[in-house]
Amino acid sequence: MARPRETNKEESPKVKISKDSIKEAMVIFRYLRPYNNVFIPGLVFIGLSSGTTMAFPFLLKKLIDSAHGDLTGRFAFAPGTIALIMIAVLAVQMVFSFLRIYLFTYVGEHTVADMRTDIYRHMIIMPMDFFAQRRVGELSSRITADVSQIQDAVTSVFAEILRGILVLIIGIGMIMYINIKMTLLMLSVVPVIIVIALVFGKFIRKLSRQAQDQLAESGTIVQETLQGISNVKAFSNEWYEIKRYTKSINDVVKLAISNGRFRGIFVSFMLFSVFGAIVLVVWYGAGLMQQGHLSFGDLTAFVVYTAFVGGTMAGFAELYSQLQKTLGATQRVRELLKETSENVEIAAVELQDKFRLHGNVSLENIGFSYPSRKEIEVIKDVSIEARSGQQIAIVGPSGAGKSTLASLLLRFYEPDKGRILFDGKEASSIPLTQLRKQMALVPQDILLFGGTILENIAYGKPGADLEDIHAAARKANAHDFIMGFPEGYETIVGERGVKLSGGQRQRVAIARAILKDPVILLLDEATSSLDSESESLVQEALQNLMKNRTSFVIAHRLSTIRNADVIVVLEDGKVKESGTHQELITIEEGLYRNLNKLQLFDA
Ligand SMILES: Nc1ncnc2c1ncn2[C@@H]1O[C@H](COP(=O)(O)OP(=O)(O)O)[C@@H](O)[C@H]1O
Ligand SMILES: [Mg+2]
Repeated sequence: MARPRETNKEESPKVKISKDSIKEAMVIFRYLRPYNNVFIPGLVFIGLSSGTTMAFPFLLKKLIDSAHGDLTGRFAFAPGTIALIMIAVLAVQMVFSFLRIYLFTYVGEHTVADMRTDIYRHMIIMPMDFFAQRRVGELSSRITADVSQIQDAVTSVFAEILRGILVLIIGIGMIMYINIKMTLLMLSVVPVIIVIALVFGKFIRKLSRQAQDQLAESGTIVQETLQGISNVKAFSNEWYEIKRYTKSINDVVKLAISNGRFRGIFVSFMLFSVFGAIVLVVWYGAGLMQQGHLSFGDLTAFVVYTAFVGGTMAGFAELYSQLQKTLGATQRVRELLKETSENVEIAAVELQDKFRLHGNVSLENIGFSYPSRKEIEVIKDVSIEARSGQQIAIVGPSGAGKSTLASLLLRFYEPDKGRILFDGKEASSIPLTQLRKQMALVPQDILLFGGTILENIAYGKPGADLEDIHAAARKANAHDFIMGFPEGYETIVGERGVKLSGGQRQRVAIARAILKDPVILLLDEATSSLDSESESLVQEALQNLMKNRTSFVIAHRLSTIRNADVIVVLEDGKVKESGTHQELITIEEGLYRNLNKLQLFDA
């Protein structure tokens, strides 16, 4: 099965390093600013620890030369003294390194936590349309992968760049100080090897990414088939899946072996050229030593500095690609933070009296298309009038636009035409949070959060006391089944907990809504998938819930809405009929009458 290439989605994309992308990345510094008093000392310690590292080969040279009794020059001491100095330098270096790592970790963790909180805070108040157009995995990777990439930048990339620059300057300075001719020889060989290694290395990385993708694809087969194992078994297609998996794995093997060939060539070439370069430089140095231009210590220090310089140059390539990824990450994070959010409160607020509703709702000539599919008008000129406390049933075939109406009432979306009035006031005149506080939705697909049943009910009114929660559960016909669990209200539900049946989940959701005590209630096909026993329990719970509120009941089963004050028959986004059961049932050739007839056989 060909899939769009979405591998490495856990990784931030690389972005060209340009003025704009760097400007975008400045957002990192905004997050760093509160920690400047830690970050800047951290940078200083990097400088200091690089300095001490670079002093080491020089001291090594002095130590070696002192063995020859060469006590000339400025830093000429006895071997014992030099060794002691070296130990002291190492001890200082130890302290610097510790501080550097500790301080950067401190800064990195804090900035990243701030960033994650900001992103989450921003993400959760986005309008529905934002979520409709993105996949959950993509959004959560903003908060995990992209932010981690930025954290890497803060804790190591900046530091490595700074350190690299220092090492190059000091290192090249030192080897030039030791011997200029040898330095020129070295600089004409080592960078060439590094460039070849980088180009070759890039090629090999590309190959290994292909192999990873291939492996990921076979992983998908495993995941899909295990998730849908009942399908595989019901269709007796085990053999087919085995064949599919084997083929995919064989492709991995082929690719990996061919990569191995290139990796082999690469590694042996590198070994040859690196050691070749060392031989060349040392051979040249040995000649200089014979002529008395160079001491043994000089040669040793030269080789060690060269190793530092070469290693740093090679490391810059990786740093460059890290930097590109960091820019990619900041760009994606910035894009997210730039999106306009919904105008909701992000602090807990009380319902204000001036916005308290009685529950009169009217939809006036509503027209609506989803922003993602502008060309299709899902709701066409729909008008519905609900007086406080009334029960409005909305029925109609699937795809008619029933759930969409519920979304519009909750103001998940704004209608394109017409208006929605609450107690005669324009919906937009009531702050979103104040409005939604007075509504409750019992949705089609009920999600219980991972946690206890108690917490799940309390979600309707955070901070509610135990008595109210139990009372709500009783009204929702949920108390008895909850007490049937050994842990009662403390039973863990959700993905890792006890699986509740559809009817039980619904009653928990109803208890949640009862606890919230809304003025306006939206029930979306609340009884569509229930067996008759739970249906009667749920029905009863719903009757309790609907008392004294304006309720919009979306239903498949017409038996459940016979007593509604108004039944609206919706088809293809339009109101076809509306009235009471008695009125609608008498319309010859009426849609409701027909649906009703069909359901007589649906027992
Ligand atoms: N988020 C969405 N984006 C685009 N189109 C949607 C979205 N949700 C629903 N639709 C479309 O709107 C129409 C009405 O859907 P819906 O209100 O869910 O119908 P019902 O609840 O009556 O079955 C359908 O054609 C559906 O495909
Ligand atoms: Mg629906």
